[in-house]
Amino acid sequence: MLNTTMQSRAEARALANRVAIARAELLPAGQGRCFSIGGRKIAVFRTRAGRIHALDAACPHRGGPLADGIVGAGVVVCPLHAYRFRLEDGSGVDTECTVRSYPVEVVAGLVIVELPAD
Ligand code: FES
Repeated sequence: MLNTTMQSRAEARALANRVAIARAELLPAGQGRCFSIGGRKIAVFRTRAGRIHALDAACPHRGGPLADGIVGAGVVVCPLHAYRFRLEDGSGVDTECTVRSYPVEVVAGLVIVELPAD
């Protein structure tokens, strides 16, 4: 019983941090869009292959708007100085800079982003 209660609380916390942000079909393929969620600005990308990714919207170099970057080959190119970041995990391709990534999934056509507990 105790295990079940603890598990339920953990599940409830996890659910509380999951936010539906948009219908997946409304995200244009090969582009990003910026959303304000829980006090954060998050760039959500839909690749031409239909995969969805979520990264912090501000480039870690000098704050460039990553949602406005060019998307292709699994990366987004920052529109200010062309640093490239992998959509999968936010790691830099040609820089030590890394941008935070967020778990994201599509459930019943809705894009769900999981925010950290902090
Ligand atoms: S602000 Fe993004 S590369 Fe400089």
